[in-house]
Amino acid sequence: MPDGNVEFYDKCADFYDVLHGERHEEFDFYRHYVPASSHVLEIACGSGTLTDVLLETAASVTGIDASVAMLDRARQRVPGARFIKADMRSFDLGMQFDTVLCPFNSLMHLSPHDSLTALSAFAAHCTDAGQVIIDVSNVDDRFLSPSTPEQIISRFSDVPSGRNLCGWERSEYDRPNRLLSVHWRVEDAETGETVAASSYTQRILSSGELDRLLESAGLRPVDKFGTYGRTPFGPGCPRQLFVAQPLR
Ligand SMILES: C[S@@+](CC[C@H](N)C(=O)[O-])C[C@H]1O[C@@H](n2cnc3c(N)ncnc32)[C@H](O)[C@@H]1O
Repeated sequence: MPDGNVEFYDKCADFYDVLHGERHEEFDFYRHYVPASSHVLEIACGSGTLTDVLLETAASVTGIDASVAMLDRARQRVPGARFIKADMRSFDLGMQFDTVLCPFNSLMHLSPHDSLTALSAFAAHCTDAGQVIIDVSNVDDRFLSPSTPEQIISRFSDVPSGRNLCGWERSEYDRPNRLLSVHWRVEDAETGETVAASSYTQRILSSGELDRLLESAGLRPVDKFGTYGRTPFGPGCPRQLFVAQPLR
């Protein structure tokens, strides 16, 4: 099944790491939560930034992603991990893991129906005593505007070409469907030439909706945090960070 979001990551893979800055607090959360010597499945592993951190203590890390370009980067960055091209909406690796995690908003790329099939697959890949960790933004959509003008989100130097580049973004929000469309473009800062451009969508997940999806997928939340520093979840928190166990 074609997926426009995966095309987006194929096109932005060269710039993904530089566009997503420091993530130390997030990485420390996983260092705390993923038991040493355990077997970990990272869903939508992207370019392997977090995979590298997980492999500091895990016995093994398997990463799945649907973007070939992102997986290429991950394989170069973390040769000690195993990477598999798979669609998180429906996959069967034929084995279970102590920790199954889907970090950094990746679940927001899916429709409600696809989120449910994905979460069910996460639960099926988790051992009885294992844990599933889901991390998405907690967005109050009253503050999302129907459309935003294009604006610069970052300036950076492209290492292979030596060019100075600018990342631009504009967005539209479809409130009835809670769907945010983000249009992204990288431009040569000197010539104004567009070097890469693509779009992705994110579903704004309310806290109640995610609770219901987890329950329908056979997952029972044991912890729900609102920050990577493990503040208990509450209104206005930036994250919805669930630690859940499979109901068997
Ligand atoms: C926000 S990035 C997160 C990447 C990585 N986990 C990180 O922490 O940097 C979202 C990832 O989800 C992947 N993705 C999107 N839709 C997918 C799908 N249906 N199946 C598998 N991967 C998907 C993209 O290719 C991308 O690598």
